[in-house]
Amino acid sequence: MSDLPALHVAIDGPAASGKTTVARLLARRLDVLCLDTGAMYRALAYLALETQTEADNEAALCRLLLAGDREIDEARLQSNAVNAIVSTVAAHPRVREMMVARQRAVAARGAVVMAGRDIGTVVLPDAPVKVFLTASVDARVERRREQLAHAGVDVAAHRLREEIEERDRLDRSRAVAPLVPARDAHVIDSSEMTPDDVVNEIVALVTAARAAT
Ligand code: DC
Repeated sequence: MSDLPALHVAIDGPAASGKTTVARLLARRLDVLCLDTGAMYRALAYLALETQTEADNEAALCRLLLAGDREIDEARLQSNAVNAIVSTVAAHPRVREMMVARQRAVAARGAVVMAGRDIGTVVLPDAPVKVFLTASVDARVERRREQLAHAGVDVAAHRLREEIEERDRLDRSRAVAPLVPARDAHVIDSSEMTPDDVVNEIVALVTAARAAT
């Protein structure tokens, strides 16, 4: 057993910045767990749609969260209907409290690469490696369009731009845990980088953090 503290890597950033892709590749490279916290909020948004629960009904959303775990496939989690309400679902303080507790419980078990909006600021403020991943709106629209095309969904770029800009606005302006870089986060602009370029840069940060402990 090593004496090193468990490796926690926090990756935050705006919608469609490539966090999830990078987090998955990085976790594979480091051979550790990957937790995409956006999927947790998306799953709750999906359950709200399915049960006709209003996205602004915090108490009902909390009850849904407590109702138990369910597998929901990627296509449903990424659907336009979910995109349209997920930022509203994620803005409720008590919903966030419950999500954060679950995310911390995962980190308490060991090494993890965790992707989201508030991982470096709220969920794991002591994470030794924090990355704030950004990209231009143009790059993010193009990535999301490609991702959807891959899934067989054809959406006009201007619609995607509106959706991304609206989610950015909601995620940045909410009262609880808004999207901002942690003070000690490394900001990486991935507009002109491949996912592997970004992963290599983060691996270098991990190596440096390891050497410093
Ligand atoms: O990363 P994503 O696009 O899958 O996230 C979906 C939504 O969930 C996003 O619009 C805001 C919310 N979210 C959040 O509030 N906090 C997180 N840690 C992760 C996601």
